[in-house]
Amino acid sequence: MSVESGTYSKGLEGIIADETAICRLDGPKGKLFYRGYPIEELARKSDFEEVTYLLLYEKLPTTAELAEWRARMRASRDIPSQVQGMIHAFPAGAHPMQLLQSVVAYISSYVEHTIQHSATCNCRQTLHQVVQTSSVVASCQRFRDGRGYVQPRNDLSHGANFLYMMRGTEPAEYEGRIMDACMVLHAEHEFNASTFTARVVASTMSTCYCSISAAMGALFGSLHGGANEKVLDMLEEIGSPDKVDAWMDKAIAEKRKVMGMGHREYKVKDPRSYVMEELLQEISEKKGDHRLYDILKEIEKQFRVRMEEKGKPLYPNVDFFSGAVYTLLGIPKILFTPIFAMARVSGWLAHILEQREHGNRIYRPESLYKGPAERPYVPIAERLG
Ligand SMILES: CC(C)(COP(=O)(O)OP(=O)(O)OC[C@H]1O[C@@H](n2cnc3c(N)ncnc32)[C@H](O)[C@@H]1OP(=O)(O)O)[C@@H](O)C(=O)NCCC(=O)NCCS
Repeated sequence: MSVESGTYSKGLEGIIADETAICRLDGPKGKLFYRGYPIEELARKSDFEEVTYLLLYEKLPTTAELAEWRARMRASRDIPSQVQGMIHAFPAGAHPMQLLQSVVAYISSYVEHTIQHSATCNCRQTLHQVVQTSSVVASCQRFRDGRGYVQPRNDLSHGANFLYMMRGTEPAEYEGRIMDACMVLHAEHEFNASTFTARVVASTMSTCYCSISAAMGALFGSLHGGANEKVLDMLEEIGSPDKVDAWMDKAIAEKRKVMGMGHREYKVKDPRSYVMEELLQEISEKKGDHRLYDILKEIEKQFRVRMEEKGKPLYPNVDFFSGAVYTLLGIPKILFTPIFAMARVSGWLAHILEQREHGNRIYRPESLYKGPAERPYVPIAERLG
């Protein structure tokens, strides 16, 4: 309904849209929990497959459940030749996020939606949308490089298999583990724009694939998923730690935003950024290349000093360090947002299921009408001007 008076909240800030038991975010304290488990522990001790189980089944699996779950997820990794054909046929200049959004909807036509229009759905059984997103991103990069499809390996972790399918060679143990931890850190983040999009589409009883495809469209936007790409642009622009001071003075004078800094919810350092920094330190050490880490630490130091002087402290978010980690894993910048999507797809699916299975009601807010009052239609010959 349109109402003509009242208040509203731009961007729905401060509005509680629904209940959830998936994720708890404590902005003032800088804490994040998936189903009650601290993000730091999950990133350091678990892996993407187990965290996906946790998000979808509301508990950590037993040994037998995890073995069965891993086998099920891994069995879905291979993408049909028709989908490979679609990836090949996509325009060369298109962004992989556009491809991903289309391909997820296309994959849907290869999956039987047994209970598509009822409150429960078979998403937990099929898992193609979670697993194949990674295979699509890896294949997209191979095809862009003029190379062929690599068959997935069922003996590798989710993160390691992604790197394997992208490179065509087996990654080192630490590379697979780091990739997996990055995906755990990005798997879920409460009612953000893309997750809310997924819930709105799911509330109409559309398929989970359509909901995920819509969420990918929301994630593609530069205010949401694209920050880690921009951090890397900034590092390339600065070049070395000794240039940070002058660059920072200029950026602040020009009122430019320092990418990877600040967060709508966190008022202290993003808890994910501590773990991401550890991962960056480890990979920098292993590769013997500390250049990106050194520039980032100098930016963090110099930005903090300047912002504290202004009485407006701002701290790194998860994306401050992630682009550097991906770069050291040999992943091109254009894949950073798709990698975010291939991790967040687990969280989206958990929210879609929660939306449908816990008293679904279609989203239908009201609007505050600010347009003209009722008036008669004017025939074209009588219109002025
Ligand atoms: C994340 C972000 C969008 C949060 O936005 P928000 O809560 O709406 O905060 P605002 O953009 O309104 O910023 C509030 C103030 O802090 C400043 N600010 C916020 N982030 C800043 C940054 N990264 N660099 C410099 N100044 C920043 C703004 O200029 C604004 O200053 P003002 O009060 O003088 O106008 C914002 O901090 C940002 O754009 N960060 C950089 C992009 C990024 O890293 N995004 C990834 C998020 S995970």
